[in-house]
Amino acid sequence: MANEQWQARVERAQQMAAARRGVDVEVMLPPRQPGAGAPATGGAAAHAAEAEPATTAAQPAQSTVVAEPTPVAAVESAPAPASSAAQRVAEAKARAASKGSSSNGGATAAAVAPTTVATPSAAPARSAATPAPATAERAEAQEVGQPGINRREFMTYAWGAALGLLTLEIGVASYAFMYPRFRAGEFGGAFPVPLGEIPPADAGPNGNTTGKFWLVDTAEGPKALYMVCTHLGCLYKWEPSNFRFECPCHGSMFNHDGHYILGPAPRSLDQFVIEVVQNGQVVSSTEDAGDRIVPPQVPGPDVELLIQTGRRIVGKSKDLSPARADA
Ligand code: FES
Repeated sequence: MANEQWQARVERAQQMAAARRGVDVEVMLPPRQPGAGAPATGGAAAHAAEAEPATTAAQPAQSTVVAEPTPVAAVESAPAPASSAAQRVAEAKARAASKGSSSNGGATAAAVAPTTVATPSAAPARSAATPAPATAERAEAQEVGQPGINRREFMTYAWGAALGLLTLEIGVASYAFMYPRFRAGEFGGAFPVPLGEIPPADAGPNGNTTGKFWLVDTAEGPKALYMVCTHLGCLYKWEPSNFRFECPCHGSMFNHDGHYILGPAPRSLDQFVIEVVQNGQVVSSTEDAGDRIVPPQVPGPDVELLIQTGRRIVGKSKDLSPARADA
């Protein structure tokens, strides 16, 4: 009696599920097997038949259930509602089976197991009927990712290269425009000085206020001393009575050769580079030897001196001065 009630409940549940999705379902249950567990086994076979027809086809005893195509066709034609309806039918069967298990004992597990099989079978049916919309996008992305570059990447690289080249050209033009240029005879440029304008070593220096240098002759060679004091930048003066340079600001003193003698100045006087030009060629020039500044060599009277006021050599430390008086 309990089996007839279970069968009636299953049929009602399936008809209700089919009515919800508008599909006419003809329920065909397998012939009941005499003996214990018949309702549970039949229910499991019905579930398996709805879920996986191939599996049921491999079992001759359940071939009559495979011949029922309506539920499967409904699932394929209406993917979204069919999956939920199939789940509801499976849940109703499971509930009915659980109620019947009180009289059938161990058949409950066998009845519940097929309901879990029916759930995954709906997913492939949905994917086969309605392909995911992202598939085309993925295919396009894979096509874009082919070896080499596509048109968009090429345009991006071309724009980047053009922008970089334009930036480089602007930078070079700006540097060339702002780079200082000095003409001869103005401070920062070259001052041509005839050799005869350099005073003798025992005479006072010859000043050039435009070029801001003192021309002196020493035992080593001619020097062009920068007129600015190495302490805080005052313009020092030549004191003929003392035969030395003296700064009026803080009293620093330098000898005729520009070496530090006394005062707060930290170093000897700075010098401009003197180039000795002979027959259009620079044959000698002032050099920085590290611990001292070496004047150029004058090979003869047929030379010209170029005072390069744009090339200043910083004077050496007062500790290196041979004329230092406070040592
Ligand atoms: Fe010449 Fe100070 S600036 S001693």
